[in-house]
Amino acid sequence: MPGIYVHIPFCKHKCTYCDFTSFPNRLNFAEAYMACLMKEAEMRAKELEKITFDTVYIGGGTPSVVDPKYIYALMAKIVKSFHLSKDPEVTIEMNPGTVDAEKIQIYKRAGINRFSVGLQTANDRQLEEIGRIHNSKDFVACAELLRGENFSADIMLGLKGQTKEDVAATIALADENGATHVSMYALTPEDGTPIYTDYLNGELPDGDEVAALYDYGYELLKKRGYMRYEVSNFCKPGFGSRHNLNYWKRGEYIGLGVSASSFFFGKRFTNTFDLDEYMKCILSGHYPVIESEEVSEKDAKFEFVMLGLRTVFGISAAAYKKQFKSDWKEDFKGAYEKTKTYLEEAGDITKIKDEYLYVQNQILTEYME
Ligand SMILES: C[S@@+](CC[C@H](N)C(=O)[O-])C[C@H]1O[C@@H](n2cnc3c(N)ncnc32)[C@H](O)[C@@H]1O
Ligand code: SF4
Repeated sequence: MPGIYVHIPFCKHKCTYCDFTSFPNRLNFAEAYMACLMKEAEMRAKELEKITFDTVYIGGGTPSVVDPKYIYALMAKIVKSFHLSKDPEVTIEMNPGTVDAEKIQIYKRAGINRFSVGLQTANDRQLEEIGRIHNSKDFVACAELLRGENFSADIMLGLKGQTKEDVAATIALADENGATHVSMYALTPEDGTPIYTDYLNGELPDGDEVAALYDYGYELLKKRGYMRYEVSNFCKPGFGSRHNLNYWKRGEYIGLGVSASSFFFGKRFTNTFDLDEYMKCILSGHYPVIESEEVSEKDAKFEFVMLGLRTVFGISAAAYKKQFKSDWKEDFKGAYEKTKTYLEEAGDITKIKDEYLYVQNQILTEYME
């Protein structure tokens, strides 16, 4: 079932690795921006009144940095404007340095039932180095406020000087404080971010070292009862993210806010990345879309295969046939033959063998032609 993504582009401070659309010095625009988001929600809802949405994901930036009354009002607007399923999954991203008990209470009253918390590492020296505004104790305090809730911890691999012991301590901190889900991302050194200089200077762990940290982290997560369902995502039984699963199944979603992207009615489209431009457009009653593309059948087939191979659920030949009236192994014959040794088949399903999931990017390049 389709999902709704909402982007809140404010942060207290920019982390050294982050390339997301987030503005550390513009929190004074929060009130005006949130009003625009609500207007955009109303505009989109009118076109999508026949659609039932099953998930809402409030991401950023740092949604927890804005006054919670705006999040409450936004959720009220979404509930009123869109048709949501009976039991929607509603997630909010939070930075542990921006959370208190009152905020969580307001989020829960607003219908938020899943929380995604940026931990990154349990090593306080590394947290400071990457410009985080919190330490590991703040994460513990945040987890305490979320006791009994469905919450995920984001952790990162490939930080300067990061050891296996750091990874073990980080996973232990997340698990022992109740995380039902862990997203374990390998650091991508993005050109233009401060950490890119460290990367150019050879100060970050190299690809093989990060792969070793990943394998180690994966084994620890498994032992602690987390199952891997996508290359970077792990959950305790029953706690997979429905919102992300919808992306990986090529499900439709509508994105609201600056830089948000959407996939609806066979089109992918993206809002402007410019905050002022976004607000100007919405206030004048126009969509702030800067790019829109009809997905060709060839691209749709590639997306289907690529997204399927990213997850442990793999590709269903029958689902592919139903959608495209052809056989995926015939459509991608050359790539399939070349990558066969990395794949395993069970009935209708083809997936990447467990031990190769981390190197899926190399495997998928064969499918790009
Ligand atoms: C929007 S933030 C999560 C919420 C909040 N802003 C925070 O950082 O605590 C999304 C997550 O993406 C991950 N991330 C951001 N930039 C990354 C990069 N360059 N490489 C790998 N992971 C990154 C981090 O783990 C971060 O927690
Ligand atoms: S707090 Fe989150 S969104 Fe903001 S800069 Fe850091 S990682 Fe990026």
